[in-house]
Amino acid sequence: MRTDESKALFRRAVARMPGGVSSPVRAFRSVGGTPLYFREARGARFVDEDGNELLDFCLSWGPLILGHAHQAVVEAVHAAVDRGLSFGACCRAEIELAERILSAFPGHERVRFVSSGTEAVMTAIRLARGATGRPRIVKFDGGYHGHSDSLLVKAGSGLVTFGLSSSAGVTQAVAADTIVCPLDDEAALAEAFALHGDSIAAVVVEPLPANNGLLEQRGEWLRALRELASRHGSLLIFDEVISGFRLRYGGYGDGVGVRADLVTLGKIIGGGMPVGAVVGPAAIMDRLAPVGPVYQAGTLSGNPVSLAAGAATLRELASGAAYEALEELGASLERALAEAGGDLPFLGFRRVGSVFWLHLAPGEVPRRADRIAPEAGRRYNGVYHMLLERGIYLAPSAYEVGFLSTAHAAGDAERLATELTAALRAAERA
Ligand SMILES: Cc1ncc(COP(=O)(O)O)c(C=O)c1O
Repeated sequence: MRTDESKALFRRAVARMPGGVSSPVRAFRSVGGTPLYFREARGARFVDEDGNELLDFCLSWGPLILGHAHQAVVEAVHAAVDRGLSFGACCRAEIELAERILSAFPGHERVRFVSSGTEAVMTAIRLARGATGRPRIVKFDGGYHGHSDSLLVKAGSGLVTFGLSSSAGVTQAVAADTIVCPLDDEAALAEAFALHGDSIAAVVVEPLPANNGLLEQRGEWLRALRELASRHGSLLIFDEVISGFRLRYGGYGDGVGVRADLVTLGKIIGGGMPVGAVVGPAAIMDRLAPVGPVYQAGTLSGNPVSLAAGAATLRELASGAAYEALEELGASLERALAEAGGDLPFLGFRRVGSVFWLHLAPGEVPRRADRIAPEAGRRYNGVYHMLLERGIYLAPSAYEVGFLSTAHAAGDAERLATELTAALRAAERA
């Protein structure tokens, strides 16, 4: 595999951009080496600046459920571009996408569009604080909700802790309003609410946590969360930036029978273009400006090109056939891995629909961030570059999930299984 051009580009980038990147994980710090420079991408594959073609299971971190440069999405974007890049004013596309989204979120009546998942969650939290008049939020150890200050907070050492800032520049005063609990632990939740319930504005959670491994939660735990939040007058925010429209046409929460008060979306609803959204009932959402006192705004919010890409993506997904195909594909990946590597005791694998995670350590795949085995990360890093050599691109971190798209064929899933197990065997021998 040639990498000279990618390396040369990275050297130029490092001299001009912090770490050479526009977002930290892209710098390959966790797997080592230097990143590949993408030149172009179609379907399930991309070609890098050295001319290598790789099969992509990272897919821009989740938006590309139809694969790269899907024809219907690209055509919708071209048509939108021809009409103008940004209006900073009302346009028909906002209403059309809002209607599409709301049709998939029963019980919710309003959408506010923003430009990223980070903004969506930041807005939902401000709204929850404004609606309840309470200061605190609860998040979970291992949950990622974008990079706004009150969410860049990690757990301390107790069961239920006031957050410690996990980034320089986030003041302890901000972090102190964030309570951090472990996932998969009803007792910790009950304790958090017993101690602080009357000051908790909202609980924010990925109902399918997918940013620190794929820590699929038990239905009982999600129901306990719903019940405690309701009992204490706190809002439940489902951060579905990854899971929204990923597993079904709508929210993961509704799919497992637990309804949130507010839902945040991003990724798929922008079809690969920058977008985010907050969805909720009118009684809460109409507290946003200009109707209510909670301020939120954006120059590029409701950008017509992003909305066109999102609407085109949702049109392709609406019949539900794509989800059936993706489930089929995921099952074939699971079967292929069992066939090729069923004898490897450390080949831990969890899959929910078209999202998967490798936990390369023996024993049960964990449901909490603090149970992820360090050896799993070491093993992942050990085979990462071997997989690149074999034409397989996974997320450059053991803690990130993989994505399948409708552009992947069963043969692509089988190839991932074959190459991964071959690389793992080679690494173990070495
Ligand atoms: C669950 C979740 N929430 C929020 C975000 C932040 O979204 P963005 O990167 O678009 O700001 C992400 C990003 O990966 C996410 O996975």
